Amino acid sequence: MYYSEGLDLALEKAAGHDKKLQERLLQTGQIPTHVAIIMDGNGRWAQKRGLPRIAGHHEGVNSVRDIVEACGQLGVKYLTLYAFSTENWKRPEDEVSLLMRLLLKALKDEKDRLHQNEVQLKAIGEIATLPQDVQDELLDGIEVMKRNTGLTLILALSYSGRWDITNAVKRMYDDIQAGMLKQEDISEKIIASYLSTKDYPDPDLLIRTSGELRISNFLLWQLAYSELFISQEYWPAFRRKDLYAAIADYQRRERRFGMVSEQVQKNQGGRAAYVERFLKSVAKL
Ligand code: FPP
Repeated sequence: MYYSEGLDLALEKAAGHDKKLQERLLQTGQIPTHVAIIMDGNGRWAQKRGLPRIAGHHEGVNSVRDIVEACGQLGVKYLTLYAFSTENWKRPEDEVSLLMRLLLKALKDEKDRLHQNEVQLKAIGEIATLPQDVQDELLDGIEVMKRNTGLTLILALSYSGRWDITNAVKRMYDDIQAGMLKQEDISEKIIASYLSTKDYPDPDLLIRTSGELRISNFLLWQLAYSELFISQEYWPAFRRKDLYAAIADYQRRERRFGMVSEQVQKNQGGRAAYVERFLKSVAKL
């Protein structure tokens, strides 16, 4: 057997194992509709290996590719990645510039593959503050993929939750001034419709890598009822097996949205609801 044949066999075996893991997840519970990720720990991953920080960002792109692919295969509908925050502009100029080059390269390199996989690319944040070539590539990708029907991949770029809310308040004020919105009509639904995420449901699951216990100005409004999963892995080391662990953990949670356990189970028509209905029908006999 040639070396490459051995490699092909090993890859085939790994793909088969991955498919089994995905099938198991599909059987054990619900797949979250919307997964949001704070990709943290690129710098530390690199520093631990004696490499420059940018090497961590570089390897982080490989994690992005793996997670996007696995989410698409599992039937996750929306994936939001915190790729560059408003605060990230404060990093040393060299790092910001290298990150922008890397983003541009990743957008160029991945466009065809994303398109072939039916991914719909979207972006939230102050896109106009990004370098012109990044904006052009991003908007081109969004345009090319706009009719795709698979995973919606939302890149949060120059984004922060407080920016999103501030922006929404300003636009609501403008609409009130223009007579298009009445103060008494403002509701949570209306506020959500002014946020950059208006077209997407709130995240069901928020994953943060590298063990930090913070939201870091991410989707502040939208994460109100999301389940949180903190992974100890640095982002460049976070791969699909870690995503599966996060989803399996999510499947074990009970999302109560402020209600009590019995109400949730009743609403979900679960086992408790069945038992309750059964007991009621027995009582009538
Ligand atoms: C956080 O690690 C990571 C970032 C600020 C950038 C994330 C960007 C990528 C993974 C590459 C491009 C993304 C896409 C969508 C193609 P950190 O630098 O804060 O790590 P540290 O906390 O260890 O310093």
